[in-house]
Amino acid sequence: MKVIKTQNYETLSKEAAKIFIEIIKKNDKAVLGLATGSTPVGMYKELIEANKNGLDFSKVTTFNLDEYIGLSKDHDQSYDYFMHDNLFNHVNIPEENIHLPKGDGENPEEDAKKYENMLKESGGVDIQVLGIGVNGHIAFNEPAEELKVETNIVNLTESTIEANARFFNSEKDVPTKAITMGMGSIFSAKKILLLISGENKKEAADYILRSGKIKTECPASLLHLHPDVTVIIDKEAFGE
Ligand code: PGA
Repeated sequence: MKVIKTQNYETLSKEAAKIFIEIIKKNDKAVLGLATGSTPVGMYKELIEANKNGLDFSKVTTFNLDEYIGLSKDHDQSYDYFMHDNLFNHVNIPEENIHLPKGDGENPEEDAKKYENMLKESGGVDIQVLGIGVNGHIAFNEPAEELKVETNIVNLTESTIEANARFFNSEKDVPTKAITMGMGSIFSAKKILLLISGENKKEAADYILRSGKIKTECPASLLHLHPDVTVIIDKEAFGE
């Protein structure tokens, strides 16, 4: 696990974008694994700038990690909407190259299987960006005794619902279920970029970077087992 420490969120975003840009420059058909949440937004802004300055996204493919169950694509808190608002509407990625798990299907379990198959058929994600939950989750793989391997349907933990309530009118409006890539789906990416920003992530960051241990109760800690992970962490999250 390679660790890059940055002074602040802005430099974290620039470092992260640099790594994505390098990959796209090397391979204009790169398969990008994308994430929602506030952490990658700065990196997406940098990618939009790079696109304006000539970096071509017309042949890349994207796969997102997760989606709320019960929200349609046009709901302003759906991850589909978020991704269009923060990235897809501003770069030249063709709509047909964009993949997100379906949150409002008749049969979520079936949709999870289909998504996993699409991911496999893509030939694998070249680079996956991840944020981290205050509880150490990655995508919606919540702390638990056992973690799922493939894309599946999960119940969100109370702490995740609380953390995400800031985006909804009230906590009761936050969906309680999500469709998410599993740990195996995430680990199938050739390269993983974990972004950790802000003081509220310090406890999870400490466990991952200082304990020398892994546990399923901190899903992100299992990233120590992946052969190509870069963590970019800002001072607030890393501490002294
Ligand atoms: P955040 O969410 O980037 O909004 O902090 C990250 C996550 O919950 O995975």
